[in-house]
Amino acid sequence: MGDSPALEPQDWSAQCYAEHAAFVPDLGRDLLDWLQPQPGERILDLGCGDGLLTQCLQTLGCSVLGIDASPDMVTAAGRRGLQVQQMDGQALTFVGEFDAVFSNAALHWMTRPAAVVEGVWRALKPGGRFVGELGGAGNVAAIQTALHTVLGRWGIAAAGLNPWFFPNTETYRACLEAGGFRVDRMQLFERPTPLPTHIRGWLQTFAGAFLAAVPVEHTEVLLTEVITELEPHLRQPSGTWVVDYVRLRFTAIKPR
Ligand code: BEZ
Repeated sequence: MGDSPALEPQDWSAQCYAEHAAFVPDLGRDLLDWLQPQPGERILDLGCGDGLLTQCLQTLGCSVLGIDASPDMVTAAGRRGLQVQQMDGQALTFVGEFDAVFSNAALHWMTRPAAVVEGVWRALKPGGRFVGELGGAGNVAAIQTALHTVLGRWGIAAAGLNPWFFPNTETYRACLEAGGFRVDRMQLFERPTPLPTHIRGWLQTFAGAFLAAVPVEHTEVLLTEVITELEPHLRQPSGTWVVDYVRLRFTAIKPR
C-alpha cells in the first residue's frame, strides 16, 4: 500500500482538547481489555495525547512510554508525571524494546500508515502485540460531507485538505500484513457519540486543516455555514450534538 505525502500537522492545544474532547480517552478505556496489559510489561503509547490512558497503564503496573507529535500534548502528559517524548509516529526510532504498542484515536492522524506499521514492528519484541483503535471507513461522514459541500460553495476543493486516514478492514489488514504482522482480531463498528459541548468546539479542535483554508477573518462565517449544514444530521431534538464516529479496532502480533 502506498503512503500519501505528509500534510501540515494539526495544531493541537491541550486546553482545547481537554474542553471539547475529554471523552476521547474515556471511550478508549475498553480498548485496554483488548490490550490485557500485564504488570511489568514495557508498553509504548503511540499518540498518547494528554496521557490519560498512559496513566491508566502505569497505574496497572506497566512501564509506559508515551509519545506524541504535539509539544503541547507532551507537556500536558508530562505534568501527570509520565515518561513522555515528542516523536512523529511515522518515524519511530525504537528497536525491539516493547512488549506491546498501544494506540487510541491517534493513527487516523497519520496519513503514512505503512511508515507507522514499519516503526511499530521494529519497536516490538518478537511475539509483541500492536493494539489500536482509529477512525474507520465512514468515520465522521456527515462532517466530511458538510465540510466538502460548504468549502465547495466557497470555491475550495476540500479533498486536498483532508488530514485524516479512515481505512476499511481490508485496507488496514493488508497494511499490517505487508508490514509483517499477523492480524489476530479486527472489528469495524459504529459509535455515535454525544458531545458534551457544541459541535463548534469539535470543529475548532479537530477540523483545523479545513478551517485554515479561508482567511482567519472568514473562519466564523465558514464555521456557521458548516454547522447549519450539519444541524439536520447530527443535532438531536434535545439540542445534543451526536458525532457519527466509526471505529476500527485491531490486535496484530509480531511473529516470534
Ligand atoms: C476520531 O476520533 O475519530 C476523530 C477525531 C478527530 C477528527 C476526526 C476523527
